[in-house]
Amino acid sequence: MTTTARGAASVSNVSKTATRTLQRVIQGLATSDGAGVKLRRTLGQGQGTRLDPFLMLDEFFSDNPGDYLAGFPAHPHRGFETVTYMLDGHMQHQDHLGNVGELTSGSVQWMTAGRGIVHSEMPQQADGRMRGFQLWINLPAREKMKPAGYRDIPPSDIPVAALAGGGTVKVIAGTAEADGRQVPGPIQGLTTEPLYLDVQLPPGARYRQPVDPGHNAFIYAYEGSLAIGADGRPLKERAAGVLSPGGQVEVVAGAQGARFLLLAARPLGEPVVQYGPFVMNTVEEIEQAIADFQAGRFTQSGA
Ligand code: FE2
Repeated sequence: MTTTARGAASVSNVSKTATRTLQRVIQGLATSDGAGVKLRRTLGQGQGTRLDPFLMLDEFFSDNPGDYLAGFPAHPHRGFETVTYMLDGHMQHQDHLGNVGELTSGSVQWMTAGRGIVHSEMPQQADGRMRGFQLWINLPAREKMKPAGYRDIPPSDIPVAALAGGGTVKVIAGTAEADGRQVPGPIQGLTTEPLYLDVQLPPGARYRQPVDPGHNAFIYAYEGSLAIGADGRPLKERAAGVLSPGGQVEVVAGAQGARFLLLAARPLGEPVVQYGPFVMNTVEEIEQAIADFQAGRFTQSGA
């Protein structure tokens, strides 16, 4: 059980036109979760590798069914949101509220655990590639105990915009700018105002995206490499690059091109106390979460 408190970033001296630079690289760490699914974790390896309000980012990537077939049997969450984005493969989500969702290639599941959800995510394929991401986004204190919610977003609801310099941007949350056009994604209106983009660039292509100057932002490169900001610091495959404050993100794809996630959100500046799948503000709230789960209060009606 760990405690951290981070103040919200001061934005008074951050220019809207300042281009963000690569401040810190978090290398992916091989790990496993659920019933042994192999993962590569960047954010969330420990309390020092969170980026308020982002708690964790895992990439699962395997052509070997032995790495993923055991899936994620029933388990609880409280106090934050989980976002699963499938690039390749098929998993089925079930939860105690009665939701059943098919996570197929290109789809997103946005789950707000709120005061408690018990769910499972199980592979629906016996072979082939399973590849995707799970992101955890914190909820503000006043929303941690709101009722759980679940939304399936099929690929047809996720806009894909072509970029003038080559490549595409998929807009999962927030609003992208593609050649001066505003392209809103399906997820809008959350307190943390997340921007979640999946960008694909050909070799040498330049890409720019405005972001709120005071929001925390990072890039996860999952194929190829990038040079970030005016000083062109490199970010290689399977690493998360935490960006400095600023109103603009600017990158250039490396010689092999690049595929990456760009994530930004409003920091909460609240204490974080995490115990496995429970993320609250105080130790007492974590003890309450454990007691509530053990007493079956997550799955009772009205719970
Ligand atoms: Fe989960």
